Amino acid sequence: MHIASVGISKLCFLCSLAFCGLLLLLIPAFQPPSRQGDLPQPRPHARPARAGGGSANTLRHPGAPVVSVHAGETALATWLNGSTTETKVTRSGDQGPGRGTDSRKSPEGGALPGGKGGGLAGSRSRDPLELKDIFIAVKTTRKYHKSRLELLFQTWVSRAKEQTYIFTDGEDKELRRKAGANIINTNCSAAHTRQALCCKMSVEYDKFIESQKKWFCHVDDDNYVILPSLLRLLASYHHSQDVYLGRPSLDHPIEAAERVKSDGSVSVKFWFATGGAGFCISRGLALKMSPWASLGNFISTAEKIRLPDDCTIGYIIEALLEVALTHTHLFHSHLESLQKLPTDTVLEQVTLSYGGFENRRNVVSIGGGFSLAEDPSRFKTVHCLLYPDTDWCPRVNPRQKN
Ligand SMILES: *[C@@H]1O[C@H](CO)[C@@H](O)[C@H](O)[C@H]1NC(C)=O
Repeated sequence: MHIASVGISKLCFLCSLAFCGLLLLLIPAFQPPSRQGDLPQPRPHARPARAGGGSANTLRHPGAPVVSVHAGETALATWLNGSTTETKVTRSGDQGPGRGTDSRKSPEGGALPGGKGGGLAGSRSRDPLELKDIFIAVKTTRKYHKSRLELLFQTWVSRAKEQTYIFTDGEDKELRRKAGANIINTNCSAAHTRQALCCKMSVEYDKFIESQKKWFCHVDDDNYVILPSLLRLLASYHHSQDVYLGRPSLDHPIEAAERVKSDGSVSVKFWFATGGAGFCISRGLALKMSPWASLGNFISTAEKIRLPDDCTIGYIIEALLEVALTHTHLFHSHLESLQKLPTDTVLEQVTLSYGGFENRRNVVSIGGGFSLAEDPSRFKTVHCLLYPDTDWCPRVNPRQKN
């Protein structure tokens, strides 16, 4: 009797072990397939959803000052010297080294959705993204119509004529003849002040909403947009999701006094994508920004927090809407050391830039059919590598000349 009961409890024990083992094996089979794209995702706690790039560009110059503001980029300089004392920010050329190393890369080399992003595989087949779905806003000013815009029209804009809109501040008959209705005179001041830049961004936003396109991308007049890369990157997300993609210009979130939701006694921390490298916003997210961005509200939001245009975008998205910036290093501004971008990754980037012709040249290192003297920005060289069939490109396949 005693022996039998011991035998039974042993048997029970073994049975329960076997049952547990079986349960463990079955657990993965019971889990529903994850369909991030269609379901609202909880807000991630781990903030920096880093994506893309992964190129080993270490962009902060050793020994560079923490604050190195380039006058040509945003009105941050004006703003730094201005009235705000409650806001702490340092804008360096870029983030420190190592940023790229933790980037996750999707199979096609684009950025993996971070944070709330998702719907990688599904969205493409369901809803193939086309270039015509993207609204590309180029911010410029009257004095750069010749020196900067002509190069863009000759190169990448020629491949995206219908969806590229030029936001400027002065009439130009010749430009109007070339680009017609896609030239938008914002009637904003030509001054490089926070107010003037926010005024242009406000018009860009309204025109995008009006356009019914799926994605809003903003670039500056010194950016080259590598359209196939842009399309590939955006196609890995869905425009109805909340997506804010760009390069953070700081290695830490900016801190500002909260004057929209509260009286300014508390501060908020948020990331923002640097405008000089370009950034993109999905239509779904852009629509949610409307209370603070549409019909002139953008200007009053920027006035309240006293921040430049690109910071204000980050503020609305991260601080007010609580949607995280998806960090990507595929976007580039002239504040970086562009020559450090590995040559074999240049054509995979989404935006490029150039700067410093006068003294120290800051351009991507890429060879092709044009010398530095013929193509100081390297934009023509990049363009001919992407589109060798262009009539002004050198006859010899530039790829062979590398
Ligand atoms: C700028 O002013 C012109 C002339 O008054 C007007 O036609 C145009 O619509 C204005 N632009 C914007 C963006 O409001």
